[in-house]
Amino acid sequence: MSRVLNGIVAVCPDLGIGCHGNLPWHPVRLNNEFKHFRRMTATASVKDKQNVVIMGRKTWFSIPEKNRPLNNRINIVLSRELKAPPAGAHHLAPDFSSALRLVDMELAEQVDQELMESTGTRRLFVTQILKQFECDTFLPEICLDKYRLLPEFPGVPQELQEENGVQYRFEVYESIDE
Ligand SMILES: NC(=O)c1ccc[n+]([C@@H]2O[C@H](COP(=O)([O-])OP(=O)(O)OC[C@H]3O[C@@H](n4cnc5c(N)ncnc54)[C@H](OP(=O)(O)O)[C@@H]3O)[C@@H](O)[C@H]2O)c1
Repeated sequence: MSRVLNGIVAVCPDLGIGCHGNLPWHPVRLNNEFKHFRRMTATASVKDKQNVVIMGRKTWFSIPEKNRPLNNRINIVLSRELKAPPAGAHHLAPDFSSALRLVDMELAEQVDQELMESTGTRRLFVTQILKQFECDTFLPEICLDKYRLLPEFPGVPQELQEENGVQYRFEVYESIDE
């Protein structure tokens, strides 16, 4: 069985993604960036089905309580320490492989055979924030050799975005078949 495994992140020029448990640009709000995150994660490719979102414990608790779990998505929290899913989360996984096994179980319940047997393309939805903010959490170096930047992607604006004085650009990368 294969699954489509996508990543999504908004990243500062120095690859910073977080600061003091929050987004680096906090308290500046990038509402359209947030809507992009919601659209890309909550829109399932199969009608009446839900995507799964996998996130670390700190990311889970960085989401305001009233917004947890992320709605219309099955929320899996990664933690080696927690013994039970935090309140509101659908599943807890002690490592990434276990999270993927949970995804497969969800898929087995949700998705038709044709989709399960389709080859999984990997996409990275990257928002390039063009302003540097203080960061204490960084993306690991991603080897983009195996990805290509798509010239366009349905529902993703190509033009430069600006909110509250912060410019950013949406990018979508797709894995190159080996
Ligand atoms: N810019 C963005 O797009 C974006 C997206 C998400 C988050 N953020 C920001 O990033 C920061 C949080 O990120 P972070 O990297 O510090 O923390 P994180 O990955 O959200 O959480 C770290 C914790 O998650 C658990 N964990 C992570 N990977 C695991 C794995 N493979 N297996 C088992 N457990 C795993 C561990 O929990 P235990 O200690 O309980 O074992 C670990 O201590 C916040 O500032 C947040 O706002 C930014």
